[in-house]
Amino acid sequence: MTTTNKFLENVKKHREGKKTEKFKGTLEDYLKLLEKDKEIASLAHKRLYKQIVSHGVTQLDETNNRCRTLFNGEAVKIYDYFSTQFFGMERPLEKVMRYLHSAAMRGEESRQVLLLLGPVGAGKSALVEHIKGALEQSEAAYILEGCPIREEPLHLIPRSLREEFEAEYGIKIEGDLCPVCRYRLLNDQGGDFTKFPITQASFSSRGRQGVGVVPPMDPNTQDTSLLIGSEDISKLDLYPEDDPRVLSLNGAFNVGNRGIVEFVEVFKNEIEFLHTMITATQEKNVPSPGKQAMIDGDGVILAHCNEAEWNKFKAEHTNEAILDRIVRVNIPYCLEYKQEVKIYEKLIGRSDYDYHLAPHTLEVAAMFAVLSRLKPSNKVDPLTKMKIYNGEEIVEKGLIKKVDIKDLREEVEDEGMTGISTRFIMKAIDASLADSTKNMITPISIRDALIKQVKEQIVNPDDRKYFLQFLQKTLHEEYLSILEKEITKAFVSAYDEQAESLFNNYLDHAEAYVNNTKVKDRVTNEDMEPDERFLVSIEEQIGIKGSAKNNFRADITSYMFARLRRGEVIDWRSYGPLREAVETKLVSSVRDISRIVTKSKSRDTKQQKKFNAMVQTLIDNYGYNEDSAEEVLKFASNNLWRDS
Ligand SMILES: Nc1ncnc2c1ncn2[C@@H]1O[C@H](COP(=O)(O)OP(=O)(O)O)[C@@H](O)[C@H]1O
Ligand SMILES: [Mg+2]
Repeated sequence: MTTTNKFLENVKKHREGKKTEKFKGTLEDYLKLLEKDKEIASLAHKRLYKQIVSHGVTQLDETNNRCRTLFNGEAVKIYDYFSTQFFGMERPLEKVMRYLHSAAMRGEESRQVLLLLGPVGAGKSALVEHIKGALEQSEAAYILEGCPIREEPLHLIPRSLREEFEAEYGIKIEGDLCPVCRYRLLNDQGGDFTKFPITQASFSSRGRQGVGVVPPMDPNTQDTSLLIGSEDISKLDLYPEDDPRVLSLNGAFNVGNRGIVEFVEVFKNEIEFLHTMITATQEKNVPSPGKQAMIDGDGVILAHCNEAEWNKFKAEHTNEAILDRIVRVNIPYCLEYKQEVKIYEKLIGRSDYDYHLAPHTLEVAAMFAVLSRLKPSNKVDPLTKMKIYNGEEIVEKGLIKKVDIKDLREEVEDEGMTGISTRFIMKAIDASLADSTKNMITPISIRDALIKQVKEQIVNPDDRKYFLQFLQKTLHEEYLSILEKEITKAFVSAYDEQAESLFNNYLDHAEAYVNNTKVKDRVTNEDMEPDERFLVSIEEQIGIKGSAKNNFRADITSYMFARLRRGEVIDWRSYGPLREAVETKLVSSVRDISRIVTKSKSRDTKQQKKFNAMVQTLIDNYGYNEDSAEEVLKFASNNLWRDS
């Protein structure tokens, strides 16, 4: 089969798959369906909520590591519909869903606008797009056939019968027939509402079906017809002025009925323009363009904007009425660098990704982004704060530093609403790729690109200085320390085993020291005294000196044996301080040879062999290629082991 034929075949299958029969019937038929499933008459908020939740909800509790370290062990709900696309945003998403949930229960929220507030590039637009996507996947809604606002068939039920209907079906009807359908009922159906034709319609953003979008407009072109439709001038000659047939109900509120009405950068619009928004939420009605009655508006109203516009808007006390109608959810930048990396991976994955990305490249970029977003703390330095926000254990003077992430969060307000945007980083990634002669990006080249970009684009001199300090100092040092560990790993054959054996020896000797017993030699089975020199050689790696060693040995012994008693498996990574000591010990054990061997000039044949083996390990086990391995090793030899 040729490619084209194969493709056409698939097109056919796809279309057949999609063609589920649309319902066609009358109100009578619809009522029979309702008897079986009253959810089909769900209002907009509920439809959306149910659709998102149907993808699955996972509850993280204190058994989850990320929950424990980052959310203070407070349970957090993860909505699967978002979790594949949005990272480090669990809390804001929970708030969005809480709004939708209450609105779905017809609480006050169903009469409120959901406002997503956050800095540029924090993912507001992407989030709204994704939410609209959920609607597009949802089941087609039942509508009055031919209705310009695709309204709920139950609007046909006259007010006088509603009480009885509600009692029988357990469904509360909201809203009345639109002027167009009222006219058709009276004139085309002879008033018999039970015979009014009903069908189904799906949702489509592009097709403006159930999704209305209001872009920001300059004051001169602002026109409420964009919101509520207009009167069709060409028809004004044909029909009397108050005839509904002149109405063109194609405004965003009409189009978004039953679904979503989105206000993009909402406060760029003039305030008068936004008053429709108030009525729409308060009354769930929008004005009609002609002299008709109000028109039903059952839509989820989603707005987004950045903080500057919000502050300007908020300051005007005449805007109070609108403020009162808003549920605001802050969408800050991601503050966990491991999650931030996932954002870049997602964005890079979209473009053709056929270059080499050296290890730690995105990590360094993400660290910079997060550092720029964090507010300074009085308790810890920025890098430490960044690591704590990432859920890492901080080891200081042989102890796990006890800083409660909650205290750090409470120290400042509105964190993550300023700093470097995701887009800024993506541009630097593009720039460093464009500059590369080897079709690769490394932590070194991304840092250079970021420095250049900060110098060019950050106008505020204080910000510029602040950001450059991170790139030129903080991250320079941090990357070197990451790199040194990596090179050590590549150097020490069977790194893990060596670490494990140091760890086991340390535990044996420390335990014997603490309990005043002897150590059994693992090979000869002979009893021997705990090896003080060995113990100290590990402890000094993390600055444990003098009598502090007694506590450290006692702590670690009881900690490890407590874990063993609980049946847990321990290894050399189990306890932060000891892990760090073991790693540092291994690093320093090969430091001299690393230094000599990475200096190309002084290598002899034996050293050249060692060097080649290390490069090969970097390539085989750690994700480098020849070029990137060469680049980082050159960097290491110039910066890490300057001849002292
Ligand atoms: N936390 C996040 N998780 C996933 N993607 C994100 C996140 N923050 C930003 N992005 C991505 O960054 C890009 C820019 O976001 P965008 O929605 O245009 O921002 P905004 O509308 O807030 O200015 C989008 O492609 C978005 O998917
Ligand atoms: Mg946007």
